[in-house]
Amino acid sequence: MLKIYLYLGFLCFSCLLKKNFWMGQNLMFFLMFLMIFMFKLDFSFVNLSYCFGIDVMSYGLILLTLWICSLMILASSFVLYKNFFLMMVYLLTFFLVLTFSSMNLFLFYLFFEMSIIPTLLLILGWGYQPERLQAGIYLLFYTMFGSLPLLLGVFYLMINMGSLSLVMIMNFSFMQFFLYMSFIFAFLVKMPMFFVHLWLPKAHVEAPVSGSMILAGILLKLGGYGILRVIAMFQKLGLSLNFILVSTSLFGGVLVSLICLRQVDLKSLVAYSSVAHMGLVLGGIMTLNFWGVEGAYMMMIAHGLCSSGLFCLVNLLYERVGSRSLLLNKGMLNFLPSLAIWWFLLCSCNMAAPPSINLMSEIMLLNSLVSWSWLSILCLSLMSFFSAAYSLYLYSYSQHGQMFSGIFSFLTISCSEFLLLFLHWVPINLLILKCDVIVNWL
Ligand SMILES: *[C@@H]1O[C@H](CO)[C@@H](O)[C@H](O)[C@H]1NC(C)=O
Repeated sequence: MLKIYLYLGFLCFSCLLKKNFWMGQNLMFFLMFLMIFMFKLDFSFVNLSYCFGIDVMSYGLILLTLWICSLMILASSFVLYKNFFLMMVYLLTFFLVLTFSSMNLFLFYLFFEMSIIPTLLLILGWGYQPERLQAGIYLLFYTMFGSLPLLLGVFYLMINMGSLSLVMIMNFSFMQFFLYMSFIFAFLVKMPMFFVHLWLPKAHVEAPVSGSMILAGILLKLGGYGILRVIAMFQKLGLSLNFILVSTSLFGGVLVSLICLRQVDLKSLVAYSSVAHMGLVLGGIMTLNFWGVEGAYMMMIAHGLCSSGLFCLVNLLYERVGSRSLLLNKGMLNFLPSLAIWWFLLCSCNMAAPPSINLMSEIMLLNSLVSWSWLSILCLSLMSFFSAAYSLYLYSYSQHGQMFSGIFSFLTISCSEFLLLFLHWVPINLLILKCDVIVNWL
């Protein structure tokens, strides 16, 4: 593991060089491929060094991190202060890789918190409107509010059990309600669950494209990953308490899907749709059955790629039209016919069309939730229906209709932008051929 960290650490220094933008992007991409080939996974953690190691669950998310982070750089070729920007992206990647590969709960907590700082700086430094300050404060304080109890929980565990190793804590079992809340709540805010999701649309609307990509792609998955790690301690208690979280997130998913249908801001539409999807993920984890947990993991990866791609698409229009409003971004089929296919492909992935891994994960989650309680059919069917409805709404309102007459000149889509969309779409639709990796089968 240490060589991966050294690679990332030295990458952070490489932003002292001039004109290293594409070199940095390539190096990140290269690291992704190194990661693919340099591990031989086993049933527990492998390649241990100090408190770090990798198992099947963290492996997939690390690959996703590196993939999304290199695409973040690819998406932001017009960014100002390139070197500072690269610095933020590298630090963020470094912290995220450390988060996913730490085997110690305290280290996990530490890097989990540290990854907020570069994200905040990305939003504050490269966002567009002055409201980004408010959005940044929202992001910071929502997550801090959730995660300070987690710190207390971690200390409690250390004092009483004497170990914070992720391998060990699976053998503990606790029945204290407050411990359960302190361990779960930080991740619920981060995911975000309905009721504590209000920071997310704000942060997305104010963030630059790279900030939105990393938020939707990785940071929301930190919450899911954290719950997957600690839920084993609360299996017994969870049997009597998890129904609250499942029903909140399913019912919230329906409400949020309805909210999606009345958005006129493209970015907040995509942001709200990710709240709905993460609700499904949370519901799946909280059922505590195999299909639910693995389906949730799979949906985290699928949604990370898909919503990040949609944010890229929205940003392509935003760079050209200067607005994210659906009232202005109409009839794009006339201006950018070659982009319409990408809108179509990514919107259909978002509504879980075959052969995307979104579909497979949704099927797994449907199985798990319906077997948990048949009443959830009500919410699930409404959610599937509305997710198709708002994806179609997004597609047809932006591509069809009369075009906005105020547009005089228009840049076409460049090759690198097509590459960006292609690299989002390919893993979603090809991973279905190798889905044993993302359902954690060895
Ligand atoms: C992981 O361990 C294997 C041998 O057990 C080794 O070949 C590989 O290079 C290691 N990978 C990393 C990134 O350290």
